[in-house]
Amino acid sequence: MTQFRISPSILSADFARLGEEARNVVVAGADWIHFDVMDNHYVPNLTIGPLVCEAIRPHVDVPIDVHLMVRPVDRIVPDFAKAGANIISFHPEGSDHIDRTLSLIRDHGCKAGLVFNPATSLSYLDYVMDKVDLVLIMSVNPGFGGQSFIPEALVKLREARKRINKYKERTGREIHLEVDGSVKVENIAEIAAAGADTFVAGSAIFGAPDHKAVIDKMRAALAHIEH
Ligand code: DX5
Ligand code: ZN
Repeated sequence: MTQFRISPSILSADFARLGEEARNVVVAGADWIHFDVMDNHYVPNLTIGPLVCEAIRPHVDVPIDVHLMVRPVDRIVPDFAKAGANIISFHPEGSDHIDRTLSLIRDHGCKAGLVFNPATSLSYLDYVMDKVDLVLIMSVNPGFGGQSFIPEALVKLREARKRINKYKERTGREIHLEVDGSVKVENIAEIAAAGADTFVAGSAIFGAPDHKAVIDKMRAALAHIEH
């Protein structure tokens, strides 16, 4: 059976009560916590950094899934590893040396993810699959929560799923396929059918008073999907 993971994005949480919000969403059934880092340079918004990651770490025992929307990337990687991040993903456009950044993340004991904007080609994966633990497909342009789903992401997810399955047949190694942007109860089954196994959801989960009800509905929608 395919194992699915739900990674609520705390970008849509109440920043004045972040520890409590993170704890609550884990109790509600979150598998990971998605942590959006924006630098007002690579993306036109400014959010949270390693100090906040470190502050949240003792509140949750699930993996912290750090999504770096920053340029440059390398300087900040060790800080996030020290702050308790488990997965660190970055955009190829944010790094001058993608292969080196992937190694840097893994050398610091974290899983490494590569993130693809709506117009970014999957060809960045061609020569680095051995160093990638997670592929993250953006279904919105990065920078803000609460945007609309870009349907072309489904095409890219199918292509990424093919690459990952082929790689697994050859090596036996598992690579996660995550999707980020406007994932909701209504579209999660279609997104999973296109190949995603890990789902970031910000506004859909934190925008509803009952986080557990939303996560339960998402899991119910995923129940019959196999890759
Ligand atoms: C967007 C962020 C997302 C965002 C998703 O740049 O990377 O993680 O929080 O929010 P929703 O689920 O509201 O689209
Ligand atoms: Zn994100």
